[in-house]
Amino acid sequence: MPLPTARVSDKGAARWAHGHPWIYRSDVLDAPDEPGLAAVHDRRGKFLGTALCSPRSEIRLRLMERTTRWVDADWWREQIAAAAARRDGIDATAWRVVHGEGDGIPSLVVDRYDRWLVVQLLSAGLETHRGLILDALREVFSPEGILLRNDVGVRRHEGLPEVTELAAGSVPETIEVREGGVRYLAAPWTGQKTGAFLDQRANRLLAAQLTRPGGTALDCFTYHGSFALHLATRAARVIALDVSADALARGRENGALNGRDNIEWVEADVFELLRQYDRERRRFDIIVVDPPAFAKSKSALPQAIRGYKEVNLRAMRLLAAGGVLLSASCSFHLRRADFHAMLEEAARDSGRRLVLTHLLGQGPDHPEVVTIPETGYLKGAALRAF
Ligand SMILES: C[S@@+](CC[C@H](N)C(=O)[O-])C[C@H]1O[C@@H](n2cnc3c(N)ncnc32)[C@H](O)[C@@H]1O
Repeated sequence: MPLPTARVSDKGAARWAHGHPWIYRSDVLDAPDEPGLAAVHDRRGKFLGTALCSPRSEIRLRLMERTTRWVDADWWREQIAAAAARRDGIDATAWRVVHGEGDGIPSLVVDRYDRWLVVQLLSAGLETHRGLILDALREVFSPEGILLRNDVGVRRHEGLPEVTELAAGSVPETIEVREGGVRYLAAPWTGQKTGAFLDQRANRLLAAQLTRPGGTALDCFTYHGSFALHLATRAARVIALDVSADALARGRENGALNGRDNIEWVEADVFELLRQYDRERRRFDIIVVDPPAFAKSKSALPQAIRGYKEVNLRAMRLLAAGGVLLSASCSFHLRRADFHAMLEEAARDSGRRLVLTHLLGQGPDHPEVVTIPETGYLKGAALRAF
């Protein structure tokens, strides 16, 4: 059966030509009313590629295949196997296997936690391929279980329900993950994202390298302690801060799992506690600032920048001579240039002389495609104080 067809304006066609896989509703001349695959043509009837169609979304078409090849079971298996092969050599037991548009498979996220997979199907078009995707994942990975963490807000824009569902086998409440020399428990059913912040893995390994042996470390916004655990491999003493008692309870478990008794888990608001530490003239050899996304929308950006600046400024003031600030932001709306401008302002107001030693981003298992800004959201920097 031939695929239903869609026709797009010149502007829509230009987006694909310029390397972005999305065509918005306003650039679609006609398209199927049902979600699924569509053969996409330009205004003059020239075939442009095969796309996933989401009739209720502002992102109406997502490019899957530029040639006339069918997007069938073989296609899914090959694409997923190729994405898996690109991750060979990661020194951990959990990583992202498919990063949606970053891997050329729009709206699909697959994270591997040891022998289990956690999957997000983020568009109505993709949902129609659920069976083929699950079959391909079973063939490529032979997992013990597949969990669908489809409890994400973006699905609302697609007219899809927000649900967490077991799709195959069984998936435990917690999964022990090894990351370099550190072990931690991921929470696939209930944890943030798909159970852990896999995107910071490389930055956590770097943070350990930048920690002065025998020094003091502070992990702000620690969540389950994954930075703190790495800092604790070298620092004499680590303070791990979070406002959530539940997150800290898991942090403590992770500390015990690693046999670490040099981490103090502190339930506090980072903004308040950093002010108090400054009054007490406490100093740290390394400070990690990895807050939640303060800017959830573009309109929230000015206020979010004030928040980022305040927390970074406070952290800068607490650095010992030679100390390192590892600062990150996962807000998509705060672009890299805004982030650096914020750090510059904070550094100016802190009165400290800070040297940029490392530019940070998301790990290579979260590929950021230069022509698709939406694939990149995590940015960061390491700064050394004098
Ligand atoms: C992005 S997560 C941190 C991820 C973590 N660094 C990692 O790599 O796994 C954000 C954490 O910040 C905490 N949080 C949010 N606002 C806070 C505040 N004002 N003070 C302390 N913790 C806060 C949340 O409870 C959450 O655990």
